[in-house]
Amino acid sequence: MRTPFIAGNWKMNMLSGEAEDFFKEFLPAVKDVQSVKIAVCPVYTLLHQVSELVRDSNVKLGAQNVFWEEKGAYTGEISPPMLKDVGCEYVIIGHSERRQHFGETNETVNKRVKAALAHGLTPIMCCGETLEDRENGKTFDVVKSHILEGLQGVYESGKEEVVLAYEPVWAIGTGKTASPDQAQEVHAFIRNLLQENFGEDIAQRTIIQYGGSVKPKNIAELMSQPDIDGGLVGGASLKADSFTALVKY
Ligand code: 13P
Repeated sequence: MRTPFIAGNWKMNMLSGEAEDFFKEFLPAVKDVQSVKIAVCPVYTLLHQVSELVRDSNVKLGAQNVFWEEKGAYTGEISPPMLKDVGCEYVIIGHSERRQHFGETNETVNKRVKAALAHGLTPIMCCGETLEDRENGKTFDVVKSHILEGLQGVYESGKEEVVLAYEPVWAIGTGKTASPDQAQEVHAFIRNLLQENFGEDIAQRTIIQYGGSVKPKNIAELMSQPDIDGGLVGGASLKADSFTALVKY
């Protein structure tokens, strides 16, 4: 019922020549993949180029952040219509690196999610606890506030599509993946929260990706969990061969 969805978050990596080389290898390798939705989220400066490269392919384009206003005196920001204009379908919102280094809060996440949806972009909204949260027994409280505050007032018509990504901060870029059971436990908790707060239909159709050291060697076991519907992949999405192995898990 939920089509698996694997997205590459390139973070602040890749120059234009590297992006070109990546897609030269990646697109032919995955052209027959139909059972998994695929997206790549490059830096803003590569969006136009990558949009051209993936045109007419089964690979969709996403951005890594978005501002909530449409236009105006906001030096350095990029708006939802601008992302649509360049060919984005998805946008990552509330990544832990933005929460840690750039002052992102649940309130600003919520504004971005609403603005993205209003302009026809599908948000990939991130949540997840730090190591300190986990050690203090706060995992579920933190994830709950990320999810409920981030999604406050979002499901107005009930038709809105938001992809969620559970990314335990201690697993990002560390090579320490959450075990499939640890991840499943939080994914089931999130789906239950959706059901209690927004109803069964939204709970059942929402894609919940796992992120944090997803690699070709651990993806199959993660994906076999009932509430893990995909992956948000950092490091392993930067090389065409490993990202190919991931989407063909
Ligand atoms: P890594 O796959 O490099 O751990 O990064 C995960 C992530 O933050 C994806 O958004």
